[in-house]
Amino acid sequence: MKIVTCVAPVNIAVIKYWGKRDEELILPLNDSISASLSTDIICAKTTIMASPLLNENKFWLNGKEQDFGNLRLQNCLKNIRKRCNPALPHLNWNISICSKNNFPTAAGLASSAAGYACLVSALAALYEIEGDISHIARQGSGSACRSIYGGWVQWHRGVLESGEDSIAKPIAPYTHWPQMRLLILIVNDARKKYSSTSGMKTSVKTSTLIKLRAEKVVPQRIQAMREAILEKDFDRFAEITMKDSNQFHAICLDTFPPCNYINDVSHAIIDAVHCYNDFKGENKVAYTFDAGPNACLYLLESEVEEFLSIINYVFPIATDTPEVEYFKGLPTEKLPIQNDWIKSLSLTPNSPGMLKYIIHTKVGDGPQILTDSSDHLLQANGLPKS
Ligand code: PMV
Repeated sequence: MKIVTCVAPVNIAVIKYWGKRDEELILPLNDSISASLSTDIICAKTTIMASPLLNENKFWLNGKEQDFGNLRLQNCLKNIRKRCNPALPHLNWNISICSKNNFPTAAGLASSAAGYACLVSALAALYEIEGDISHIARQGSGSACRSIYGGWVQWHRGVLESGEDSIAKPIAPYTHWPQMRLLILIVNDARKKYSSTSGMKTSVKTSTLIKLRAEKVVPQRIQAMREAILEKDFDRFAEITMKDSNQFHAICLDTFPPCNYINDVSHAIIDAVHCYNDFKGENKVAYTFDAGPNACLYLLESEVEEFLSIINYVFPIATDTPEVEYFKGLPTEKLPIQNDWIKSLSLTPNSPGMLKYIIHTKVGDGPQILTDSSDHLLQANGLPKS
């Protein structure tokens, strides 16, 4: 019997991937850049067991059994097995896969990116594969290829029809900019939106702006973003991040029918960030939104407490929500807002409970194999632990 357990990070793009040029191979229209987030705070975890005693292949995700025939899962499996030594004894054994995210799916974070990066990293360890696996993770979920590496990562769109050169490559390790922090504001919104797959498809078909973005805007932005990261120039980093998020959501509105992912609370967060940056005279906080209303805010460690005091004033916690459930992740001192802030920024509080909770985290390393047997999600018989 062989068993492997792996954790992999969520990544948050600062130059967004939106639109495929090949639906089947999952090849993007443009390059994108993201940071992988610390797996100590939020991550996907996967255990895979191969055993001659397993009668069939099985897959559980967040406690629920899934269809093992799922095309994206099968593509990842097929591409990993193609790469491995055909003499491996466990290559033809059945496998059990058990995956879970340690953050609620309702968080609307790109759970499939962390999930597929974790699955492919665990499969690569199980079948003893070396070399780049980001192009295999890409075939599970496009953005998953960036979660194969830690720190700051670029997904190169590639030019080959085969997709072989559409891979992720690190720009800088997570230790490069140790002061970088993220506040993820989970917006209280249960409405189900379009999946990114269907949204992208309609954008590619109907938006004229998406072509301009892919051909003209992103190539320049990628270069500028790489420089801002390498030079640790937060002001420039923040400007590009916010502009790119705004352009992505402008494309969503330019899509017909439009796919509107951000809502009034998201817009109120955008306003609060701009007020703060204006007051400070430079960009101290950057927002970015994926295919949902939740805000991912990049800021330096030195700004966290002050900016959080503003967020807590503008978006008061619901009276029935315990603080321990509301503030997750890295600890912070909860400072009261300064009175002159309220006046100078002309801030007014919204009604309580607009935010569900806040995750405070940082940039972190890539997927890790866990060697302690207590970390496995499967029992010796191949079934999930409780
Ligand atoms: O990999 P997908 O299909 O979940 O697409 C994710 C796209 C965005 O999260 C909206 C942007 C990005 O680059 O992560």
